[in-house]
Amino acid sequence: MERKISLTGIKPTGILHIGNYFGAIKPALELVNTYDALYFIADYHALNTMKDPAKLRASIREVAAGWLAAGLDPDRVIFYRQSGIPEVFELTTMIMAFTAKGLMNRAHAYKAQAAANSEKGADPDAGVNMGLFTYPVLMAADILLFNADVVPVGKDQIQHIEMAQDIAGAVNANYKQLVLKIPRPAVQEEAAVVPGLDGRKMSKSYHNTIPLFLDEKDLRKLIMRMVTNSQPLEDPKDPETSQIYLLYKLFSSAEEQAALASRYRAGGMGWGEAKEELFRVVNRCLAPLRERFRAVIADVEGLDRILKRGAEKARPIAAATVERFRKAAGIELY
Ligand code: TRP
Repeated sequence: MERKISLTGIKPTGILHIGNYFGAIKPALELVNTYDALYFIADYHALNTMKDPAKLRASIREVAAGWLAAGLDPDRVIFYRQSGIPEVFELTTMIMAFTAKGLMNRAHAYKAQAAANSEKGADPDAGVNMGLFTYPVLMAADILLFNADVVPVGKDQIQHIEMAQDIAGAVNANYKQLVLKIPRPAVQEEAAVVPGLDGRKMSKSYHNTIPLFLDEKDLRKLIMRMVTNSQPLEDPKDPETSQIYLLYKLFSSAEEQAALASRYRAGGMGWGEAKEELFRVVNRCLAPLRERFRAVIADVEGLDRILKRGAEKARPIAAATVERFRKAAGIELY
């Protein structure tokens, strides 16, 4: 039986953290067992906001190396850079003709920026480039080009997938045939929120992350610096309201969790000890990832080769979609 297709885009935003790992990377890698997977680095998307070439170049490599270190197997996943697939930009132009401007006006990212501008009394379009405004069209092309069935994304991206559905629907309705497959979002519900160092959701914008590939010494320091309440050592403590314990749960077995929880409840354990336990399990999990990351990031040529090979595998699929669209539209190549 033919397998369904899972596709997702990864924005090169630099250093990955454990929130990315549990929220995005791990669930996407699990889908590889049941789907044909295409995962790519969305480098042209990043260009909208990142204008410094050295930074962009480094971010692309770091994120690509990060996913490989975290377990993406390039022999099982077609792993490429968006910029390696020129067909993305052909399809973008074609679907532009089927995308209502009003649809773009409603995109959350654009609306948020416009609202922030208005609040400051500035022109609503200040700092908005056309790349940002048409972002959902490029993203729709990324998806529709490869006949994706499911798109693993975070909640914030659902609207973009719905826009891709709208656009594909408009194309199919116009040509009265299935030119573009309608994708659906796969939102990992139980890939719950990873608590950050301060107990809020782990997020780059809160500066409360644990970077995935931190060396052992810095990882330990970061965990030891976690803020706790001033409950004395001898007091019984509630594990479920302790961010140390909530993080611990992500990295430990059921038995380990039960054991630490009972030490919390028994009293006599200080926060320092709980942090040592947390460090031990986090480091146990991250040490092999860290080692692989170092090896992959050091081999720039090897990394580029992997991404190039991925693009070579992806392009024939993309070309077939563009061809199908051209034919339906009356823009065949003679
Ligand atoms: N917009 C996504 C994000 O910000 C990244 C992305 C680009 C994407 N193209 C995509 C995700 C296609 C899924 C499918 O995270």
